[in-house]
Amino acid sequence: MKGRPLLISLLLLIATTLTLTATSTLAPDSAYPSPYGAADSCGGAAEELIPPRREVYGSGKIYDITHKFTPETPSGITENGIGQFLQLAASMKNGSLYNFSEIKLPAHAGTHVDAPGHMFDDYFDAGFDVDSLDLEVLNGPALLVDVPRDSNLTAEVMKSLNIPKGVKRVLFRTLNTDRHLMLQKKFDTSFVGFKKDGAQWLVDNTDIKLIGIDYLSVAAYDDLIPSHHVFLRGREIILVEGLKLDDIPAGLYTVHCLPLRLLGAEGAPIRCILMK
Ligand SMILES: *[C@@H]1O[C@H](CO)[C@@H](O)[C@H](O)[C@H]1NC(C)=O
Ligand SMILES: *[C@@H]1O[C@H](CO)[C@@H](O)[C@H](O)[C@H]1NC(C)=O
Ligand SMILES: *[C@@H]1O[C@H](CO)[C@@H](O)[C@H](O)[C@H]1NC(C)=O
Repeated sequence: MKGRPLLISLLLLIATTLTLTATSTLAPDSAYPSPYGAADSCGGAAEELIPPRREVYGSGKIYDITHKFTPETPSGITENGIGQFLQLAASMKNGSLYNFSEIKLPAHAGTHVDAPGHMFDDYFDAGFDVDSLDLEVLNGPALLVDVPRDSNLTAEVMKSLNIPKGVKRVLFRTLNTDRHLMLQKKFDTSFVGFKKDGAQWLVDNTDIKLIGIDYLSVAAYDDLIPSHHVFLRGREIILVEGLKLDDIPAGLYTVHCLPLRLLGAEGAPIRCILMK
C-alpha cells in the first residue's frame, strides 16, 4: 500500500518527460511552420494555434490542385454557391464532449469527378458509380497544357495542341483559370469547355483516358450533354472537373486523384494533387 503513491509519481514523471521530449521534436521549420497542437501541449495560449494551409509543398514537389470547399463554392445548381455545407450535429459549445459535424454537398460542386452514370440512365442503374472508377486512370503521369484563350475546345484546337499518342492523362488549363471562375459563387455559363467535335476528336485521335478541366464542366455549356455523352459513353474516360490549375508551370507531372467511395453516386468530391 505504501509503495503505490511513489510508483504513481514515478510514472507521472516518466510521462511528463516523454511529453516534453515529443514536444521538443516538433520545433517549427520551413516545411512545417506551425506544428498543430505544439503550443497546446506546452500549455501555451490557444490563440497561437494556427493550422498550416498550403497550395504548394516542398517548393513545387507537390501542388494541391483541389479547390477548398467554402459556402461560396459554385455548384452550377444554386446561384449562391453551396451554402452551409457543414453543420455541427454535436458541439462542445453546447455541452457535448466533442465537436461532430455532418456534411451536405452537391455531388458535382467544387473539384469533383463524373462517373458514367452521370449522363446515362442505364449505366446509373447498372452501378457505374464513382466507386467503379479505375484508380490506375486516376493516378499516373499527366500533362498540364495551356489551351489558346480565344476559343472553346474544338476539334481544330485539339489538333493544334499536338498531344502525343500514348499520353493518357491531360489537364487542360483554359481562360476559366484566368477568369477565376471557380472562385465565383454564381454559375457562369460562358465558361470554356469541349465542343462536341472537340470531344469526338479527342476520343478518335488520342489515348487520353483522364481529362481534367478548370471549371465545373468539361463540356462547353452550348454542348453540355452531347460532349459529356461522347466522353462517357465508352465508360473508359474519367472526367475531373473544377480543378485549381493557377500558378503551376505547364508540363509533365504525376497526378494523384482519389474520389470518395460513395456507392451509387454518379459524382463525388475528389482530392487531386500534382507531383513533380
Ligand atoms: C446543441 O446544438 C445542436 C446543433 O446545433 C442543436 O440542435 C441543439 O439544439 C443544441 N442544444 C442545446 C441544448 O443548445
Ligand atoms: C469545438 O471544439 C473545441 C475544442 O476542440 C471547442 O473549444 C469549441 O468550442 C468547439 N466548437 C463548437 C462550435 O462547439
Ligand atoms: C465558349 O462557349 C461559351 C458557350 O458555351 C461561350 O459563352 C464563350 O464565349 C466561349 N468562349 C470562347 C473563349 O470562345
